Amino acid sequence: TIFAFLCRNSFTMPTMEMTLEKILQRQGFGSRKLCRTLVRQGRVHAGDVVCTDPDRRFETDALHFSVDGEDWVYREHLYIVLNKPSGFECSHQPQHHSSVFTLFPTQFIQRGLQCVGRLDQDTTGLLLLSDDGDFIHRYTSPKKKVPKVYEISTNAEIDESQLEKLKNGVQLKDETGMTKALSCESFDEYRMRLVIAEGKYHQVKRMVAAAGNRVEKLHRSAIGGFALEESLPAGEWRYLDVNDLNKLDEPLDP
Ligand code: URA
Repeated sequence: TIFAFLCRNSFTMPTMEMTLEKILQRQGFGSRKLCRTLVRQGRVHAGDVVCTDPDRRFETDALHFSVDGEDWVYREHLYIVLNKPSGFECSHQPQHHSSVFTLFPTQFIQRGLQCVGRLDQDTTGLLLLSDDGDFIHRYTSPKKKVPKVYEISTNAEIDESQLEKLKNGVQLKDETGMTKALSCESFDEYRMRLVIAEGKYHQVKRMVAAAGNRVEKLHRSAIGGFALEESLPAGEWRYLDVNDLNKLDEPLDP
């Protein structure tokens, strides 16, 4: 019965079969017509053999396929970490700089890849991107209060009163109530680490300004327990695995 089917499947990983045409479409290779043509022209391999029948069905779980010799693995959704370089805007319609989306294959854009919250064009470091609406909502919603860690270089010397102000809360223009850092510590006269739970517009720069200093350089190093690894160069990205995704919900690494 349908009931038994639903019960069984709610406790197991769903396995899915799909036509090759649909697989290509879902993975961002263009319209239905275009995908059918790609297959008919013999440009698509699925599981190592060429397949010229767009209606042939394949199990999508961990399916390896290639298009024009380029290898892909089927992914239901994209979960990505980018080490954002300076000089890139987190927008599909950038105003004054390049878009971060130029750093990804066009298939990802076609699939609807979005930034999970924005970093300013001159901010570097950890940027999450996804095409999963629920995931994006979850990590951008102010209710969720996921801690975000920022490494800051300042223009003027940092003093104890500035750190106190950031910890106790500063009044930002056009914001009701005080905006507080979850924590804040300095490393030397010009460098500090600030942890915040929200993602208000230019929040770190505005907080530091309200405390009487100015941000010269801003780098995001972690979100929750997930820290950007040093080995990922600026401008490079990788897929997040289950372990990484779980870390986002864990407390900050000490
Ligand atoms: N706060 C800022 O001011 N800028 C960013 O890019 C991120 C947080």
